[in-house]
Amino acid sequence: MAKVREVILGVGGGIAAYKSCDLLRRLQDRGYQITVVPTPSSLNFVGTATWEALSHRAVTTQVWERVDEVRHISLADQADALIIAPATADLIARIAAGRADDLLTNLILAISVPVLIVPAMHPQMWLDPATQANVNTLRERGFKVMEPAVGRLTGDDFGQGRFPETAAIIQEFEDVLNIKKDFLDKNVLITAGGTREAIDPVRYIGNRSSGRQGAAVARAARDRGAHVKMIFANPQLSAEEIATLDGIEILKVETATQMHSVLEVEFPKTDLLVMSAAVADARPSKYSEGKIKKGELRDIALVENPDLLKSIANLRKDQIVIAFAAETSNDLIAAEAKRVAKGANILYLNNVSNGAIFGSLDTEGFIITSNGAHIPVPSTSKDTLAELLLDQALNQLG
Ligand code: CTP
Repeated sequence: MAKVREVILGVGGGIAAYKSCDLLRRLQDRGYQITVVPTPSSLNFVGTATWEALSHRAVTTQVWERVDEVRHISLADQADALIIAPATADLIARIAAGRADDLLTNLILAISVPVLIVPAMHPQMWLDPATQANVNTLRERGFKVMEPAVGRLTGDDFGQGRFPETAAIIQEFEDVLNIKKDFLDKNVLITAGGTREAIDPVRYIGNRSSGRQGAAVARAARDRGAHVKMIFANPQLSAEEIATLDGIEILKVETATQMHSVLEVEFPKTDLLVMSAAVADARPSKYSEGKIKKGELRDIALVENPDLLKSIANLRKDQIVIAFAAETSNDLIAAEAKRVAKGANILYLNNVSNGAIFGSLDTEGFIITSNGAHIPVPSTSKDTLAELLLDQALNQLG
C-alpha cells in the first residue's frame, strides 16, 4: 500500500480532547503529518491556538472559514487516513445520521480513506441503546470504532467510556492501515549520502551519491516501527524529500573521518546497520588553507581512507550489517567475495553502468545474503528495495 503520511485528527467536544494533544505528538513522532479539525464545541476544552501550535498548520472548524480553499474537499483529497479522537455521543450520532453541520462532519462525508473512531463518554451514554445503535451503523459502514477503556471517568462514575491509552490508539490505527510493524523497538542505523574530502577551500573529492536509497531504507524502517538514526553525508535531496524523514534522527557529517567517529559511537547501540553511504576511498594527505593553483593540482597527494565497515568489525556483537556495492557489472562471484570481505550479512549489488542509479528514484541489481541467496531485483523503486532489504535483515535478526 502507499505510504500513509497525511492524517486528519478530528476532535470532538469531550474532556478527553486534552489527551488528543499527546496523541497528536506521538503520531508526529512516528512520521505522520497531522491536520487537526476540531468541532466547534471541542474548542471549549482545547482551543485553536493549541492545535495550531502543535500541528504547525491552520485550524478551522466551519466550512465558512477559508471558503476559497474549499477545505472539506481539499482536506479530504490530501488525507491518507482520519482519526476521530475523542468521539462524543453527539458526534457519533451526527456521523451516523450523515449530518454535515460543521467542517469535520462535512469532511467525513467527503472522504474515502480508512477512519478510526475513538469514543469517550460517560458509561451510561456509551451503553445507551441510541449510542450503541449508532456505533453499529458506523461499523456496518466500514468505520473502525474502538471500544472505550474501562475505568474511572471525570465524575465519580466508573465503567466503560474512558479514552484509551495513546499507545493503544496508535496500535489500533496502524492495524486499521495494515502497516507492518515487524521492526518495533529495533534500533536501525543507516549511513547515507556521499562523503566529501576537502582539498582546499574550493575543491573536494566526492561522488554522485544522493542519499536517496539510504533515505528510503530509513523511512521504511521507521514505518515498520524501528528507532532510526541516519549518519547523513551531504544529502542531495529536495526539501520535500527531507520532509519525509520526520521522526528520524539525522546526524550530519561531511567526511569519511567524521562518519567513522559517529559510527564508532552509534554502532554498538544498534541492531541493524545499513551501510548505504558512498565513502570516498581516499582523501588528500593534507588540506590546503589556500586555494591550490591549477599548475600544482597534480602534486596533491592522497591517503587511503580506512574501510569503515571493516574497522568497526571489532565492535560487533550480534548486529546485522547490510552493505552496498556499486559496480559496473553483475559479477555475483566478486560481489559475494566483497560481502565476505566486508563482514556483511547482506550485500546489495547495484549495477551503476551507464550512469544509472545515482540520483535516480529507481534501482536494479541483486541481493546477496550469507544464507547463499542471490535474489535478482529487476528495475524497481528505491522504496521497494528498502522493504526487500529489511525483509532479508529480519530473516537474519530472528
Ligand atoms: N565502505 C566503507 N568504507 C569505505 C568504503 C566503502 O565502509 N572506505 C562501504 C560502503 O558504504 C558500502 C561497501 O563498503 O556499503 C562497499 O563499498 P565499495 O566502494 O563498493 O567497496 P570498496 O571496498 O571500495 O571496493 P572497490 O575496490 O570495489 O571499490
